[in-house]
Amino acid sequence: MDKILILDFGSQVAQLIARRVREAHVYCELHPYDMPIDAIRAFNPKAIILSGGPNSVYESDYQADPALFSLGVPVLGICYGMQWMAQTLGGKVESGDTREFGYAEIRARGHSKLFNGLQDRSNAEGHGLLDVWMSHGDKVTALPDGFTLIAETPSCPIAAMADEARGFYAVQFHPEVTHTKRGTDILHRFVLSIAGAAPSWTMPNYIDEAVKKIREQVGDEEVILGLSGGVDSSVAAALIHRAIGEQLTCVFVDHGLLRLNEGQMVMDMFARNLGVKVVHVDASAEFMGKLAGETDPEKKRKIIGAEFVEVFQAESKKLTNAKWLAQGTIYPDVIESAGAKTKKAHTIKSHHNVGGLPETLNLKLLEPLRELFKDEVRELGVALGLPHEMVYRHPFPGPGLGVRILGEVKAEYASLLQRADAIFIEELRNTIDEASGKSWYDLTSQAFAVFLPVKSVGVMGDGRTYEWVVALRAVVTSDFMTAHWAELPYSLLGRTSNRIINEVRGINRVVYDVSGKPPATIEWE
Ligand code: XMP
Repeated sequence: MDKILILDFGSQVAQLIARRVREAHVYCELHPYDMPIDAIRAFNPKAIILSGGPNSVYESDYQADPALFSLGVPVLGICYGMQWMAQTLGGKVESGDTREFGYAEIRARGHSKLFNGLQDRSNAEGHGLLDVWMSHGDKVTALPDGFTLIAETPSCPIAAMADEARGFYAVQFHPEVTHTKRGTDILHRFVLSIAGAAPSWTMPNYIDEAVKKIREQVGDEEVILGLSGGVDSSVAAALIHRAIGEQLTCVFVDHGLLRLNEGQMVMDMFARNLGVKVVHVDASAEFMGKLAGETDPEKKRKIIGAEFVEVFQAESKKLTNAKWLAQGTIYPDVIESAGAKTKKAHTIKSHHNVGGLPETLNLKLLEPLRELFKDEVRELGVALGLPHEMVYRHPFPGPGLGVRILGEVKAEYASLLQRADAIFIEELRNTIDEASGKSWYDLTSQAFAVFLPVKSVGVMGDGRTYEWVVALRAVVTSDFMTAHWAELPYSLLGRTSNRIINEVRGINRVVYDVSGKPPATIEWE
């Protein structure tokens, strides 16, 4: 299979380059800029892409090994990658008088293979013009030997350059962001036409390869996997089961804070339909016991995380033959944890994943999804026969309803919340937006109910009620880092409220959360 190597010089958007390449059905991986040349050779790339980065090439340690220019493969430099290419091959890079940030119109020159036939419009003389996104302070001021100018702007005379004989191309703008309108076309042009990579990264091919690899890795040993009902662990389970069948045992820990009928749904889908071995552990009493009396959100998260590890560990120890622990780690997690070493971020909430388990369990790690982006994981899930509805579900946090019952968690509250939440989700799924033809479930990124431990007065029939409040939350977001509250139709909100109050005894008031993130977070705790 043809592979593209992307070397990351510290760009905020390097992941986007990878996504664009994958969209051309070509496999690629993102590695740090200082990947040793032997490792690059072993990777055997069909082409290399050099990302942007925040530094200046003439004063930075961010230098890749120049030997990569002798591998005989095409190289595309983007922004810092262009400047590093220019400096390394004998051109000149200088600091610009002003930083250029945002939209720019470039004029293509010289009919290079990179831009030929790609344009947003043309000027009076018939030169192709492209709308692009720039973000740079430094610029290339002299071309290296063998290079020609292939695009210019008034403020950046060398906006793109190429040595077509050697297959070296470089652009000062960012083709990976959507603001560069023909950006995807330009990247695909490089990968498919210039590098000649075969578009063989397709789901059926991927499944065959992944299955082969899992079989080779695992041999005749046994694997355990913590099934959460989430997309990633579910797809990992389905894939591993396809590869090794009976050698896989899944453990599903029910902490009593799952969505309504979640346990049943997971057992039906995996145990009954797919024939996967699943151990269903009902640990709700233990979790509720440990959580009793605790109201602090962070402490609740820690208790749930620790208890989860404990229960999972106890179950795993019963499976004495297991040598492997499978996890649904996906590519963004891998990139994030690699980047996390250098980036400092505040802990707003301590997210709980099944971390720390491999060390204590003494198991080898099996992570068959670590090369995939989320949308690829979903595509894989569908290809493996998981229901579309399950694979395209909204995310659900590890601590579950534990962070959606404010303050102390009680089984009684969990039961009310589960039912209210199920009604909200059902109404979202059943209400179709006429303009788009999509359900409101698909139009929102995450939606759920929150239990508020306050009572308010109501009137039902002839009687006074004094019961609990539920808040509805629905957001639209692409990355969950920022989010808008969803502008749900009033009729949908009204129906949901009516049904919850009528069907869930104990709740007499429903409110809608209209806070964005920031300053609020998506979850309430
Ligand atoms: P916040 O509330 O931080 O949520 O805006 C952002 C996204 O992360 C999910 N979330 C969690 N996921 N463990 C998880 O696995 C957690 O502790 C956790 N807390 C929040 C949240 O549901 C949303 O999708």
